[in-house]
Amino acid sequence: MHPLQTSIFLLAPLFVSAAQYCSLKPPSEISSSTSKGIQNGGDASDVVASAWYPGWLAGDFPPASISWSRYTAMTITTPDPTALLQLDSISAQTLPDFVKEAHSNGVDALLSIGGWTGSRFYSSAVASEHNRTAFVNATLALVSQYNLDGVDFDWEYPGKQGLGCNVVNPDDSANFLAFLQELRATTAGKNLILTAAVGITPFVGSNGQSMNDVSSFAEVLDRIAIMNYDVWGSWSPSVGPNAPLNDSCASAADQQGSAVSAVKAWTTANFPAHQIALGLAAYGHSFKVAPQSAMNGGNVALYPSYDKSVQPVGTSDSPSDISAVDPCGNYEGISGIFTFAGLIQSGFLDKSGTAASGIQYTFDPCSQTPFVYNQTSQVMVSYDDATSFAAKGHFINDQGLAGFAIWDVTGDQDDILLDSLHEAMGIIPVCA
Ligand SMILES: *[C@@H]1O[C@H](CO)[C@@H](O)[C@H](O)[C@H]1NC(C)=O
Ligand SMILES: *[C@@H]1O[C@H](CO)[C@@H](O)[C@H](O)[C@H]1NC(C)=O
Ligand SMILES: *[C@@H]1O[C@H](CO)[C@@H](O)[C@H](O)[C@H]1NC(C)=O
Ligand SMILES: *[C@@H]1O[C@H](CO)[C@@H](O)[C@H](O)[C@H]1NC(C)=O
Repeated sequence: MHPLQTSIFLLAPLFVSAAQYCSLKPPSEISSSTSKGIQNGGDASDVVASAWYPGWLAGDFPPASISWSRYTAMTITTPDPTALLQLDSISAQTLPDFVKEAHSNGVDALLSIGGWTGSRFYSSAVASEHNRTAFVNATLALVSQYNLDGVDFDWEYPGKQGLGCNVVNPDDSANFLAFLQELRATTAGKNLILTAAVGITPFVGSNGQSMNDVSSFAEVLDRIAIMNYDVWGSWSPSVGPNAPLNDSCASAADQQGSAVSAVKAWTTANFPAHQIALGLAAYGHSFKVAPQSAMNGGNVALYPSYDKSVQPVGTSDSPSDISAVDPCGNYEGISGIFTFAGLIQSGFLDKSGTAASGIQYTFDPCSQTPFVYNQTSQVMVSYDDATSFAAKGHFINDQGLAGFAIWDVTGDQDDILLDSLHEAMGIIPVCA
């Protein structure tokens, strides 16, 4: 252990006791004498208000710039580890400060393991009894080294290929469950907050189909966060909503999944609604669309065709991304992702987060998400704004979900999205 880290650990409890303790509650829970609580975390908040923090953005967005008082949990993610649990140097440097900031604000600090580019060896890490125990040991060592409150398992995806060169095994989901059970059964594992970032359909069984019953996962995980985004993007046949709230109102061909379909699928497979956080996108995907396809009368057309050969450069792209290869060695290119803040910086939206003058805007009533279009650059972006976040906030309450998880905390601008969500969900701080 680095000597500097030791001194930070000694300081951490002082920060906790000095801070005023606040929890976040929707008003309906406050008058009621029974508190939902959170299963294993010992957290007094009745709502999960969480986000992921990409550790590699710490240079521009240090932990101190997070709106900590508006969250109950924050999950730091690490970029492209070549092997599971091998932290890159930026993340290792940022973690102590991240955990210190979280704890001084009464927020749970979690570390996410995996991700889109970090799931190559998940399957192997849980594939044998020996490897599961080694993975449990390594997880607990990180928890103890960095004083974490929990761990988020972001395996994309058990039993299914993600990136392109991940190890995949028909027993992935069963092995994952055995690993989680072993971790939970340890003395240190009992009190950890264990979460998983999951797709819009339940984990697949050995036959490659979504399982009918995932209740055993709910017994060992505190909660899952459904990644209801990237539903449409540069791989899709037409422009479509990045993060649809609903799709059952869309034409059959355009029903690619949504918050509505995902919550239904997971709860039908016996994952309790109150252990589900809805993943929300503080970003959007861009498409190059010719004006004759883009406009329908005076409005931005829904599901228009686009030019796949020209991917607009987004605000999450750096110049080197033009020639980037992924960890499989495949050409990756630019993502075309604009953060919500990036849409403001690049002139699509004004400072208040609404469409700028000269920009075409439409709000799709089915997906309940907006689209903007610049006729000069011919760039269309599907994204989320304050209105679509509010719609998702109402849905979270109506369905009795645990709360939300935003990808990612750096994407918002002046808490425009977060404010809208808190207001829609009726979240207020209660301080002791
Ligand atoms: C166990 O992990 C090692 C690497 O640590 C790997 O080489 C091996 O293939 C794994 N076992 C299984 C059954 O996947
Ligand atoms: C896991 O940790 C335990 C306790 O320290 C140790 O006895 C065991 O050998 C470790 N197992 C593996 C596979 O790392
Ligand atoms: C989703 O669409 C269906 C079909 O139009 C509708 O019945 C349902 O109320 C919608 N749900 C939400 C949450 O918008
Ligand atoms: C639309 O795109 C053009 C060309 O890139 C740019 O000059 C213009 O400022 C954009 N319009 C707005 C309102 O941002």
